[in-house]
Amino acid sequence: MKDAESAPHESWAEVYDIAYEEAFGTFYTDLSKRTIEIITNNFTNGIKIIDYGAGTGRLSIPLTELGFNVTAVEPSASMIKKLLEKSEALSIQTVNAKMEDVDIHEEFDLALCVFTVLLYLLDENTLHKSFTAVYNSLKQDAFLILDIPTKDLFQGYSFSNNMINRTVNIKEMGDDLYEYKEDLTVFRQNQTSKNYSDTFSIKYWSAEKVLSVLENIGFVVVEDLSIHFLGSGSKYFLLQKQEVKETNDRL
Ligand SMILES: C[S@@+](CC[C@H](N)C(=O)[O-])C[C@H]1O[C@@H](n2cnc3c(N)ncnc32)[C@H](O)[C@@H]1O
Repeated sequence: MKDAESAPHESWAEVYDIAYEEAFGTFYTDLSKRTIEIITNNFTNGIKIIDYGAGTGRLSIPLTELGFNVTAVEPSASMIKKLLEKSEALSIQTVNAKMEDVDIHEEFDLALCVFTVLLYLLDENTLHKSFTAVYNSLKQDAFLILDIPTKDLFQGYSFSNNMINRTVNIKEMGDDLYEYKEDLTVFRQNQTSKNYSDTFSIKYWSAEKVLSVLENIGFVVVEDLSIHFLGSGSKYFLLQKQEVKETNDRL
């Protein structure tokens, strides 16, 4: 198990954006645009959004610029540092924690947990704890946008251009657990190139399993948004927080 200092992404946070922007090009920027469009089409700006696994602010930053009140939750301190460097003039609140450790009650109108954050939850107890924390952080009837990666995403790839050389290897370890290995070289003009590497575990979760855990916690699926994210390798869902009914034996 990794400690906080060696949390996934910690060692290459400073070049995370370059790695994704170069390796996925316009597909990556289009994906961000589509996600933001879904949010602006369905929610009024000014509402309070909590972005779980916010990374370097791919969504937190533009949403704040559009007038949403955003809190970014992220366990990697280096990813948060990068997010804050990129958004100095904005007032983005940050919480340096894993989603399962967040203890906020009925504060937010919308939670985001997108772009494969789910894969970092490695067992059912953590899955349950994480989405109970999400549920608790939302106001009654508030919403959650979640992506559930399909098996298509569990494939390595290599990409090279004049900016980066990136290789991702994904090795099956059994029980739907995989080892993710990132090897990245970034070439800088007039500077020597720099190498980065990172290895961590990820887990495949079926949509049926995740949605049944979420329904038990008290979410209902309002809309399958996957049609808007074709080619992303993930299913996307809009869920809503419902009041949990007291069962007879608790009355
Ligand atoms: C692939 S990035 C996605 C970032 C961002 N959500 C986006 O849409 O660009 C996944 C992020 O999830 C974070 N993460 C990993 N484990 C987490 C956990 N238990 N709770 C919250 N975030 C986590 C990682 O540090 C990483 O920044």
